[in-house]
Amino acid sequence: MALSRIALTSYRADECYEPSDDTFLLADAINDDLADALKSEYCNMLAVEVGCGSGYVCTSLALNSPHIQVVATDVNHLAAKHTAQTARNHKCSNNVDIVLCNGLDAFRTRRLFDVLMCNPPYVPTEDEEIYTTTPETTTNHNSVINAAFAGGEKGRLLVDSVLMPQLADYLWKEGRAYVVALHENDVGEIQQDAKARGLESQVVMERRADMERLCVLRFTTTTTTTTL
Ligand SMILES: C[S@@+](CC[C@H](N)C(=O)[O-])C[C@H]1O[C@@H](n2cnc3c(N)ncnc32)[C@H](O)[C@@H]1O
Repeated sequence: MALSRIALTSYRADECYEPSDDTFLLADAINDDLADALKSEYCNMLAVEVGCGSGYVCTSLALNSPHIQVVATDVNHLAAKHTAQTARNHKCSNNVDIVLCNGLDAFRTRRLFDVLMCNPPYVPTEDEEIYTTTPETTTNHNSVINAAFAGGEKGRLLVDSVLMPQLADYLWKEGRAYVVALHENDVGEIQQDAKARGLESQVVMERRADMERLCVLRFTTTTTTTTL
């Protein structure tokens, strides 16, 4: 199993999500699952990370090959700043573009990405803790922190309302999406929803971190993909 290590991550805990066990799990799962493709001299991928935070995950993928281009999105402009710095620190700014937007809203072209990755705000929370404003209004500490972890009932707000409805549209055929989930998110239900949308899914990596049982789900499009 490949362990992702990047040493020069830029973050401040009051400005963006601090790289944590879930971050490392996602980076490890992606680098492990894509190991063969990444080794190939023909590797030429366009990837997107939804909710890039410090930029740890997208930078660790970009470092794998000069032929990978990664677009990183976040609603938090401070996360965008830190991601840019993390990419600069690792000398891969040319491979990492950053877009301040909600989910995938900035992209109009369908079937665009070979790889999508997301470590969503997955903690089940009360509705009032959910961050609902626009990127431009992410100006205070509470918004930044809430946007990073608060996932609403079942902790699946971003997954259910943004990712699942759009995954099949945005993934290139044979594209793959990697999404972190917590046991309490009801992984089986997420997989059933994916199936109903014509997506195949599999748990590719699992890890325990303190009280959390985390996994990374991989979604792939099938030939009969439909958009609900
Ligand atoms: C759990 S943190 C993960 C950060 C980073 N990817 C990591 O693994 O360390 C979730 C990130 O998603 C961002 N986020 C929350 N809602 C979002 C949305 N609707 N669109 C884009 N980013 C979002 C948060 O600002 C935060 O940076």
